Amino acid sequence: MKNKRYVIGNWKMNTTLPDAMVLATGIKDFAHEFNNIGIVICPPFTWLYPIAEAFRHKPSNLSIGAQNMYWQEKGAYTGEISPLMLKGMLDYVILGHSERRYIFEEDDENINEKVKSAISYRLRPVLCVGEKTKKSAIEGKNGIISQVENGLEGVDKNDIGKVIIAYEPVWAIGTGDAATGEYAADIIMKIRKKIAGLYDDEIALKIPILYGGSVTKDNIEEFMFETEINGVLAGGSSLKIGEFKHICKVVNQYR
Ligand code: PGA
Repeated sequence: MKNKRYVIGNWKMNTTLPDAMVLATGIKDFAHEFNNIGIVICPPFTWLYPIAEAFRHKPSNLSIGAQNMYWQEKGAYTGEISPLMLKGMLDYVILGHSERRYIFEEDDENINEKVKSAISYRLRPVLCVGEKTKKSAIEGKNGIISQVENGLEGVDKNDIGKVIIAYEPVWAIGTGDAATGEYAADIIMKIRKKIAGLYDDEIALKIPILYGGSVTKDNIEEFMFETEINGVLAGGSSLKIGEFKHICKVVNQYR
């Protein structure tokens, strides 16, 4: 059986409330057409509640995610959002995005705390990993493989089924310089090999691993052609409803 595929839209720090509602309700209107896949939209924190309200009656394959969270439940952490605040309103949370790693200096240890905390609140972590430059090593310190290993430390076999991994080469994010499908599939295969070592072969085959970085309506087929790639995490193209719909349509077709 092939893995379930996902299209996750990371809106980043974009949209006003009216923009967000137009985009979210537009996605809600077409999501039922693509029910082979899971569609997850990740708006800014401030629009999560109004969107969750607007999604009270929504297609079951459409979900909401947060773009980040802190690992503590509550306390003196000015400006942070806790898993307790998100729980009940949404089901997914992006963790370890490269913009968090490199602009806000989050390290593997912080990200691992967040992954474990998300799981304990029954949120599904979308753990992002990726190399910084085209020349960066895949193995070794700060390489993708160690980001996977460190990010999942202490996550046991019973919980790993909740995790989604997004392979996002930093050099491809927001640059228009996407990886090729073949390159992404090769890295994803290496990530699966690591997961097999950490857990077992069955888990490695089943864990959804997505590609992200300058995914567009024009290159989506190339990624979906690779069976290793279980969907995409889209940034810029998740803000354009027509383009996002097309991406969902293509991912939905490749079953
Ligand atoms: P991009 O962003 O599609 O705009 O390159 C992807 C991401 O950062 O998740």
